[in-house]
Amino acid sequence: MSDIKSVLVENRSFPPSREFSESSRVASTEEYEALYKRADEDPEGYWSEVASELHWHKTWEQVLHWELPDAKWFVGGETNLAYNCLDHQITKGLGDKTAILFEGEPGDVRKLSFSELHAEVCRFSNALLGMGVVSGDRVAIYLPMIPEAAIAMLACARIGAIHSVIFGGFSAGSLSDRIADAGISTVITADGGYRRGSVLELKKNVDEALEKTPVERVIVVQRCKNEVNWDNERDHWYHDLMAAASSEHQAPALDSEHPLFILYTSGTTGKPKGILHTTGGYMCGVYQSTKLVFDIKDDDIFWCTADVGWITGHSYVVYGALLNGTTTLMYEGAPNHPEPDRFWELIAKHKATILYTAPTAIRAFMRWGDTWPDKHDLSSLRLLGTVGEPINPAAWEWYRERIGGNRCPIVDTWWQTETGSIMVSPLPGAIATKPGSCTRALPGVSIKIVNREGQPCDTNAGGFLVIDKPWPSMLRTIYGDHERFTKTYFGEIDGVYFAGDGARCDEDGYFWVMGRVDDVINVSGHRLSTMEVESALVSHPQVAEVAVVAKPDALKGQVIVAFVTPMGGVETSDALAIELRQHVAKEIGALARPEEIRFADALPKTRSGKIMRRLLRDLASGTKVQGDVTTLEDASVLSALAAQHDEDSDEA
Ligand code: PRX
Repeated sequence: MSDIKSVLVENRSFPPSREFSESSRVASTEEYEALYKRADEDPEGYWSEVASELHWHKTWEQVLHWELPDAKWFVGGETNLAYNCLDHQITKGLGDKTAILFEGEPGDVRKLSFSELHAEVCRFSNALLGMGVVSGDRVAIYLPMIPEAAIAMLACARIGAIHSVIFGGFSAGSLSDRIADAGISTVITADGGYRRGSVLELKKNVDEALEKTPVERVIVVQRCKNEVNWDNERDHWYHDLMAAASSEHQAPALDSEHPLFILYTSGTTGKPKGILHTTGGYMCGVYQSTKLVFDIKDDDIFWCTADVGWITGHSYVVYGALLNGTTTLMYEGAPNHPEPDRFWELIAKHKATILYTAPTAIRAFMRWGDTWPDKHDLSSLRLLGTVGEPINPAAWEWYRERIGGNRCPIVDTWWQTETGSIMVSPLPGAIATKPGSCTRALPGVSIKIVNREGQPCDTNAGGFLVIDKPWPSMLRTIYGDHERFTKTYFGEIDGVYFAGDGARCDEDGYFWVMGRVDDVINVSGHRLSTMEVESALVSHPQVAEVAVVAKPDALKGQVIVAFVTPMGGVETSDALAIELRQHVAKEIGALARPEEIRFADALPKTRSGKIMRRLLRDLASGTKVQGDVTTLEDASVLSALAAQHDEDSDEA
């Protein structure tokens, strides 16, 4: 882990929304503090009360079994997450209420009530069982943002199959790596999905991936009616399976610790980590955080814009919303198709009440100009949220003013794939907000800022964000690599969960997250590892050595700059730079494409041969190289790189 830089931030404050305070579950700072204290003193009591609001086939015998780093929550309890999302809501009288409100990029709209969604999920559960998918099997879901993605997830959860959703923007190579790592038996995909007016060829990517890593069966949803290659032995149309399946299915009782899903995310090495979440604890975490942070009301139309390929889509598009009996809005396409006001049009048309999106999207909207949101009636909105990266105060204020009409509070939510659910966030009726701060920990979550030795940091001093008590929705392991799990999360600072983020805590007890302290970079709210991009680049035959660093970017938060040493005899050119960028997109996915390729005859290294990334980061961001360079093996390398940068900036 590297050192923390302190950052200067504005300290403006907005009081809790009065409108919320009048009606919200946690209606004042005092109430929040009392609830927090109560949960902190007796976390097991607090979380068992939360769990009691959900349906259990069998009540647990023990709330928590904790043997660092292994947590078991609601030990001996049996439940079913899909039952809680569907059957339980129908029992409560919500059968006719819209569960999923979907709009495709071409403008097609579909509404599924809780009863209809239940029937679809039961049908698909029967279809999977009929094909031989059993509890514990791993099923990959590689779909666009269409209702079938939620149906597939819920059906897996219902029968106890472990889903692994893979974002549709990932390449065949990334798909294949994940299929191999998780031992996938079944892939659920589509003939295509719409994105910015064209068709994403998902089935084609699957076919390519499966050449390397075959699976038993592929189920294909027909979305675009485009032509696809077909393997009669392996491939099945979703609609054929559904037509033949019964809509009656009894949800089985699953152990609280039954594995629910594996979701891959980037770590510090080249190989993504399969984060494993389990049933009962995850369910309680997402249920409670949705309820408190978004202060859910019966008539909410909740729009979380994340793709289900990311944790935010899992926890808040699908599970958190449905567990609270809330209507979830799903949109398939790009925010600027056909015009940059598509989001605002959707909000006005469907009367969305909550918008939960990423700072990078907000910055893009700001750039596109106020005329786009101004054209639409956004008065249905009552709450705004952000997630995925620190939000700069200017974007925060624009969001509050232009989108929220200075009326809607903003919840800046800090959490991770690993935490499963929101850990730090204002509660809208109870906590005053400050632009750029995710404010305070949720009840039942214990966050500290500490130094390398695990000692608490002083007020406002930068340190490492850790979680010092287990929480229900925490990851249980890295699939197939428990040792890496222990080392990554519990091996850095003794006795606590190490999040990999630098942060500080101010005089009001507010957290300010400053970004990653490891080699994970955050491009448009997407997590990537520098090593992952380096591995992709060195797999190109003309590349000898490479070092990837992040450079701050006004729109995307960070962008990737790759310093590349070509193989001897290779002529560097703009064409080669373009080819290398394309190569990364093909190997990983477009989200990992470097913004810049810089060629260098050699990379700056210490005498022991370590690449001096600190210097490269300074070079990439155009700041003067700082600090000690005395261990640099060959100072001429640095001056050559610096000279190249000066030339680049002269040209610019
Ligand atoms: O660095 C933090 C940043 O995103 C990382 C987690 O990424 P991922 O697992 O992909 O999950 C993203 C969505 C939950 C964190 O380690 N991050 C997330 N939310 C915030 C944030 N940084 C600052 N403020 C946030 N609200």
